Amino acid sequence: MEYIFSLEIIYLIASITYILGLKMLGNPETARNGNLIAAGGMTIAIFGTIFLYQGEIPMLIYSLIGIGLLLGTVVGWLVAKKVAMTKMPELVSIFNGMGGASAALIGLIEFNHYTGDTLSIVTILAGIIIGSISFSGSMIAWAKLNGTLNKPFRLPKYNLLNNLMFVLLIVFAAFIAWSGSDSQLYLYILFFGALAYGVLFVLPIGGADMPVVISLLNSFTGLAAALGGFLYGNMVMLTGGILVGSAGTILTFAMCDAMNRSLVNVIFGGFGDTDLTVGEGTDGPQGSIKKATVSDVAILMNYSQRVIIVPGYGLAVAQAQHAIHELEQLLEKKGVQVKYAIHPVAGRMPGHMNVLLAETNVAYEKLAEMDDVNPEFPNTDVVFVVGANDVVNPAAHNDPSSPIYGMPILDVENAKSIIINKRTMNPGYAGIQNELFFNDKTSMLFGDAKSVIQALISELKGM
Ligand code: TAP
Repeated sequence: MEYIFSLEIIYLIASITYILGLKMLGNPETARNGNLIAAGGMTIAIFGTIFLYQGEIPMLIYSLIGIGLLLGTVVGWLVAKKVAMTKMPELVSIFNGMGGASAALIGLIEFNHYTGDTLSIVTILAGIIIGSISFSGSMIAWAKLNGTLNKPFRLPKYNLLNNLMFVLLIVFAAFIAWSGSDSQLYLYILFFGALAYGVLFVLPIGGADMPVVISLLNSFTGLAAALGGFLYGNMVMLTGGILVGSAGTILTFAMCDAMNRSLVNVIFGGFGDTDLTVGEGTDGPQGSIKKATVSDVAILMNYSQRVIIVPGYGLAVAQAQHAIHELEQLLEKKGVQVKYAIHPVAGRMPGHMNVLLAETNVAYEKLAEMDDVNPEFPNTDVVFVVGANDVVNPAAHNDPSSPIYGMPILDVENAKSIIINKRTMNPGYAGIQNELFFNDKTSMLFGDAKSVIQALISELKGM
């Protein structure tokens, strides 16, 4: 009894750390500590579960748990340390897939222990279906993000086929539960069917939509873990699963909102239809462009009162966050007001630009969100677009045939002058040309973001 009580206390503490940690993740200043607090809670929950377990645990099982913990910790630590910020969605997708796989494996093992108990069997089968879909779907999402699978794969009538398969899985699971069958064959048919569904569900979705899909699968994993918690009457697993499930769902809808897309549209086609690799899809507005030199831009900025920097995916690729912060500080010293306009889906993951700029200690109040900054563009002397493309593409307002039509964008075309830094005329992630490049007020400053910004800094220092 004493043991159970202390384990319950540990679970309560761990659950509180998850909630606190999640709350602290909402602010860049507290996010790091929030992460540590929740990870600390998870650590005590794991060790509490292992060492305060009431039953007998053979030494072999202890050793296997120890090996698993050690391997997981070392691999997780090394991979997370080494990963480039731009590769973070891929890593999240692998980690998420592992969570789904664990939930499915729990179901496969526990199925034999609960024969005859319909509620528990339903919970187990739901965990197997959701966990397996989350695992195989996350693996496909990972392969799409890293370019291994760079084209959407669609069977004829794939939407109909996928929906039919999903209904069949549910009907089959219901049959297993209500017939009280303990057939291993049925169990594994369900398991492999769910894995196949996860693959077929994600394969047709375009690469541009993968972060949304990963977040959705993340909410599935949370749900599968919560089902495990329900099955074992384990409060910490239940709390953790519910938090992951609800946070994933909120994030999924927040991303859809930022792209002005419905979840149905993401899953059943739309933006992802134009799944082009960079360099394709240069059709669209054409015309002549103006090229600027570094000294043109330095002079323009030096004599401006207000400059707004619009960072995008290219800033992250070039690792130009420190350089842009130095440029901002230099301009401020010269009396120019500088701020950053942050589009909610700039980059390749939620909060990508915030994370990148927080790394260089850019003052938080200098980061302006899209809705707040859009009315300020008409009073802005220079907008400096660094490695951003889709998030400033006016086609989102002007061209109903464009795949990004309806997506809210940063209205940089209202500024007095626009400087765009990128390396070539290649399109951004959506694979479409940007009419902003041909705007009379626009000058293109070609080159790698980091080198260009560093050159601008030295030019400005000499003025
Ligand atoms: P993009 O539209 O992808 O444009 C990035 C631009 O950066 C490219 O046109 C590229 O042009 C340039 N670039 C690449 N490397 C560079 C370098 N080293 N130096 C300078 N420029 C470089 O990026 P964005 O404007 O940030 O928009 C994000 C896109 O991702 C949107 O379509 C969004 O919907 C999608 N997306 C984002 C998320 C999240 S959550 N962030 C989720 C799903 C989808 P060059 O090759 O010519 O240099």
